[in-house]
Amino acid sequence: MEPAPLLEVRDLRTRFQTRRGVLRAVDGVAFAVDRGETVAIVGESGSGKSVTAMSILRLFGRTDRASIEGAILLHGRDGGVRDLLTLPEPALRDVRGREIAVIFQDPSASLNPVFTIGEQIREAIRRHRPAEAARADAAAVELLRDVGIADPERRVAAYPHQLSGGMRQRVMIAIALACQPRLLIADEPTTALDVTIQAQIMRLLADLKAARGMGLLFITHDLALVGEIADRVVVMYAGQVVETGRTAEILARPRHPYTRALLECRPERHYRDEGEDERLLRPIAGAPPRPSEVAPGCRFAPRCPMAEARCTAAAIPLIELAPAGGRASRCIRWEDMP
Ligand SMILES: Nc1ncnc2c1ncn2[C@@H]1O[C@H](COP(=O)(O)OP(=O)(O)OP(=O)(O)O)[C@@H](O)[C@H]1O
Ligand SMILES: [Mg+2]
Repeated sequence: MEPAPLLEVRDLRTRFQTRRGVLRAVDGVAFAVDRGETVAIVGESGSGKSVTAMSILRLFGRTDRASIEGAILLHGRDGGVRDLLTLPEPALRDVRGREIAVIFQDPSASLNPVFTIGEQIREAIRRHRPAEAARADAAAVELLRDVGIADPERRVAAYPHQLSGGMRQRVMIAIALACQPRLLIADEPTTALDVTIQAQIMRLLADLKAARGMGLLFITHDLALVGEIADRVVVMYAGQVVETGRTAEILARPRHPYTRALLECRPERHYRDEGEDERLLRPIAGAPPRPSEVAPGCRFAPRCPMAEARCTAAAIPLIELAPAGGRASRCIRWEDMP
């Protein structure tokens, strides 16, 4: 089957007006998610992953003083294409509810402590699928069952604090699914959970995605999680895409030294299974540049073992390595990599 585009992000630039000047958090990011596909955005803290996700649905508040440029094209079922960046706010609100759903890292921050989880799921159903409002009670129980919550008839009456962290994240997923989204954006959905629960939630997301034919944009700093879930990977560094391609190819033969460094510091399975401290693992030396301090040329050069003079002389474009699978790297020495 020909891949059909679902979301196309083109030359996304998100800036914040701060007291210390303009902060370019996302600086020319482009990628696409096809229907039914899982794309992972990977990168260290501060690389601009969440800002990318927030920009897609314009989730910033007035106090963020954000400006977003580029294009965010959402392809409709009927073949029509809308640019979410130019869509009027009421139309965008519909997209947020019905077509694209987001789940974030910390479910406790998103759930309302004073309502039962059933009330919160039913509210999402009424808002996004008014036709089903009459059977919202039954639909809420079904959704809880779909996300793997045992005894959903009883759990539906529980308050968020009565549930474990893993169960609260399952409830967040149920609320996101209540609108039957065509695209689910999951921003570090398992980071706050322990590794066993993390694996369960990953499996759940993969199963739900397959069963519902959704696109999934999965955001993580942990490249180890990506192999199990993503069809393609977008590696971000300091607000830019530095490498992208099919997951298997990226994991087997990274073509950017930053991707390779991420792979080398990735926790081995046996460490995780034995519950050993992940800090034993080798982190990447140095720190990413602050967005206000990026030098010309390669932003990773100051930390790169392969850097040479020409790397910092001029801006480096994303170089297409192969037409198939959209393989590209922002490293002029990619052919020299082992
Ligand atoms: N509302 C905001 N106002 C000003 N700066 C912001 C705002 N939100 C994010 N930033 C800055 O933008 C940059 C990118 O942040 P972002 O949250 O996208 O990183 P991230 O890749 O999601 O990292 P993490 O893995 O820690 O979640 C950071 O320098 C951050 O401080
Ligand atoms: Mg983030």
